[in-house]
Amino acid sequence: MNGPLSDRLEAEKAKAFLREYSSEFTASIGHAPLAYVHSYGCQQNVSDGERIMGRLADVGYGFTKDIEQADLIILNTCAVRENAEDRVFGNLGDMKRLKKNKPDLVIGICGCMAQLEHVADKIKESYKQVDMVFGTFAYNELYQLLYEVLCKKRRVFDQCERPLDINEDFIQLRENKFQAFVPIMYGCNNFCTYCIVPYVRGRERSRDPGSVISEVKKLVSDGYKEITLLGQNVNSYSYGFPELLRQIDKIDGDFRVRFMSSHPKDATRELIDTIFDCGKICKHLHLPVQSGSDRVLKAMNRSYTAAKYLEIVDYARSRDPEFSLTTDLIVGFPGETYEEFCMTKVLIRRVKYDNIYSFVYSRRSGTKAAGMEDPISDKQKGQWLRELLLEQRETSSEWLKRFVGKVCRVLPEAEGRTGEGYLTGKNDEAIIVEFMGDKNLIGQFVNVRITKAMNWALTGEIVE
Ligand code: SAM
Ligand code: SF4
Ligand code: F3S
Repeated sequence: MNGPLSDRLEAEKAKAFLREYSSEFTASIGHAPLAYVHSYGCQQNVSDGERIMGRLADVGYGFTKDIEQADLIILNTCAVRENAEDRVFGNLGDMKRLKKNKPDLVIGICGCMAQLEHVADKIKESYKQVDMVFGTFAYNELYQLLYEVLCKKRRVFDQCERPLDINEDFIQLRENKFQAFVPIMYGCNNFCTYCIVPYVRGRERSRDPGSVISEVKKLVSDGYKEITLLGQNVNSYSYGFPELLRQIDKIDGDFRVRFMSSHPKDATRELIDTIFDCGKICKHLHLPVQSGSDRVLKAMNRSYTAAKYLEIVDYARSRDPEFSLTTDLIVGFPGETYEEFCMTKVLIRRVKYDNIYSFVYSRRSGTKAAGMEDPISDKQKGQWLRELLLEQRETSSEWLKRFVGKVCRVLPEAEGRTGEGYLTGKNDEAIIVEFMGDKNLIGQFVNVRITKAMNWALTGEIVE
């Protein structure tokens, strides 16, 4: 089969078949068919993975973290850099053995990589152990795709772009019980020249504010403490992003709101003012700059200059000189010179970020930058990346000291790395905080007095 099977009747028929299949499976094996679902990449992908799991649970699947136990494996992939793709192909190789041991095992690849025709073709030809390859537009067809594989014994490939009802009440299986991702928009129109996302996620579509707000209300009433609003560029949310934040801030309850990512070309003073006006919105902005050189920014099609970026940074810092910022950076964009790279170092020293997410440029076939001359070796770029990280470490170890002596509100997420009895979580400014505390506190806000700043995190002790 190629292309969509989007008929509603087909969906109902497939769903009924799958429910029957799982109950017969349970009757003969003694447990529900088990799915292993793994999402790579960004939070948007994790959120999609939760929707896939929700759909599977709805037709009777259980879940396992042990791939050897699985009756269905779904790898929800990322295509943003080459190493993300390599990892998936590596895992697919290993799965040949699993399929040999369990011939009824169903293996599916979905997500951003699976949206690319050349990847689907490669899997079709060379990875015969894979039964389903479906892209980011096909989640709503999951039942039909599985039906084709299980009932008709056919391999299925679906890379079709199609309109999606993005306001529907999604069935979702959230593994985390206190932190939730809420996508507010999908796709991207920006076509940064290095980036594959617009090709695998399609054009921007915004969810209705009513639909977003009722989802957040439901999450808060279910006890969720941290809601992260997602979009490739939340500032181009069609119905007005600051207004959406203000509406969400009015929802009663003890919770906080984060959002990402903000494209600097659309980050306005109104957005900054909204962050300061709204008590539940975290005082932190993830503002990916990518480069400190105007020539490189232009070649990247980022539509802002370093000066324009600094204007919005300066406005935020005029409202609070300690305002927390994080960013994404690319090192070694095609044609970038060492002098241009150094402008990025100058920028990060000037801005003072709490954290940076920096990547060596990865060539993505089909993007505009893939055709640009790229004379600098990967080894050299790796050296630049190390220089950048060193610069950041020096900056952040000083900059994070501003928290020492202050009391921060922290949401503990897990046991900490510092040692036994420690918990780890983040403060409202999105900085990792480690402190001694009982495991029962995971998922509840605590106040922590910061005693020490390291270059990547803070440590402290709980206060009443
Ligand atoms: N939409 C977000 C924005 O523009 O700020 C970024 C989303 S992208 C999934 C996350 C980050 O991956 C980007 O900010 C960029 O730094 C990095 N990235 C994207 N394409 C890349 C490439 N081809 N090579 C290296 N890093 C890349
Ligand atoms: Fe990629 Fe640019 Fe869109 Fe971000 S804004 S997803 S970097 S094309
Ligand atoms: Fe996210 Fe990777 Fe796709 S970063 S949007 S999963 S290409």
